Amino acid sequence: MNILVTGGAGYIGSHTLIELYKAGHTAVVVDNLSNSNPESLRRVAELAGIEQVPFYKVDIRDREALEKVFSQHKLDACIHFAGLKAVGESVEKPWEYYENNIGGTLVLVDVMRQHGCKNIIFSSSATVYGDPAQIPITEQCPKGTCTNPYGWTKSMLEQVLTDIQHADPSWNVVLLRYFNPVGAHPSGRIGEYPNGIPNNLMPYITQVAVGKRPQLGVFGNDYPTPDGTGVRDYIHVCDLASGHVSALQAIDRCCGLAIYNLGTGQGYSVLDMVHAFERVNHVPIPYTIQPRRAGDIATCYSNPAKAEAELGWKARYGIDDMVRDSWNWQRNNPDGYPC
Ligand code: NAD
Ligand code: UFG
Repeated sequence: MNILVTGGAGYIGSHTLIELYKAGHTAVVVDNLSNSNPESLRRVAELAGIEQVPFYKVDIRDREALEKVFSQHKLDACIHFAGLKAVGESVEKPWEYYENNIGGTLVLVDVMRQHGCKNIIFSSSATVYGDPAQIPITEQCPKGTCTNPYGWTKSMLEQVLTDIQHADPSWNVVLLRYFNPVGAHPSGRIGEYPNGIPNNLMPYITQVAVGKRPQLGVFGNDYPTPDGTGVRDYIHVCDLASGHVSALQAIDRCCGLAIYNLGTGQGYSVLDMVHAFERVNHVPIPYTIQPRRAGDIATCYSNPAKAEAELGWKARYGIDDMVRDSWNWQRNNPDGYPC
């Protein structure tokens, strides 16, 4: 299939491109580069053994530019990663988040339907479960109250895509709820380099390891978890990427609308991650215990059985691979991609 990958220059998009090429698909990338660097696409081409990734520097809110891409390529499906994703920033700039994530998706979906491309895989998040009603979280678990505008954009866009599919059953919509993506391609050539101070645990740990930050702050050690620190379902980004290819291969038989958790089913605490990083990479990670972070929940991990049963997908990488590959990327690219 020929796939439109929005946000394909970003962290998860770039890893997914490699899996798409591996599976024999082709891709066209649109990205406005607001949170990425086109060097990622050059490296994807190198890793995939192709000359170059077809790329358009296009903002998905720009209808005319998107129309042009659709008129130049016959596209079978879209994997839609493009969006803003910083939780804290979304609290400061809610309008920008709703306008970019929701406004952009509405334009994208309209252009898709006008060109008869009605297959979409959407990057959703475990954040839509809010403080989950049950652990491990199955897809039947009710959606909850999000604690920030970013989370609401995911929750609302799930509803938007669901309603569009109900109104026009010729759409195939797959909502993938990611748990906590970490790691990088084992080559160390592509990975994640957040702007400014990292919000997420793993990039913070790798920046402490490489000497950019003096120590990690562990946000709370009084949660009702085995060691008191927050528990999450960390998933290697290459596993996440292959989940998209599995979803794509099943898109025709997914009965119009399908929702899958993409996680490992295994919860690890903050200190489990710190200690695994130190053990595997032989690098100390100094830390101090700090107060809880507003909006955090104690425990969040998936039941990924539905994706295995229906897509034949399950995570293959373990915690040692995740911390090894995160570090391999960071130490080989201490400042991210060159500008
Ligand atoms: P990322 O920021 O690395 O990638 C997103 C890409 O979208 C970037 O390259 C950015 O330049 C591009 N983009 C943003 N707005 C755009 C627009 N209007 N037009 C065109 N391009 C635009 O983020 P990521 O970690 O790769 O995440 C990909 C998707 O997965 C996002 O939708 C994110 O919300 C979702 N997600 C991420 C996580 C995570 O922890 N990384 C967890 C759950 C869901
Ligand atoms: N943590 C620290 N110190 C840090 C950063 C994080 O102790 O410097 C802790 C958090 O308190 C939490 C755990 O590490 O217990 C994981 O935190 P992250 O910020 O890495 O991830 P979250 O689970 O908070 O959120 C992530 C994404 C969201 C997404 C959510 C569910 O950032 O976008 O997973 O998929 F919605």
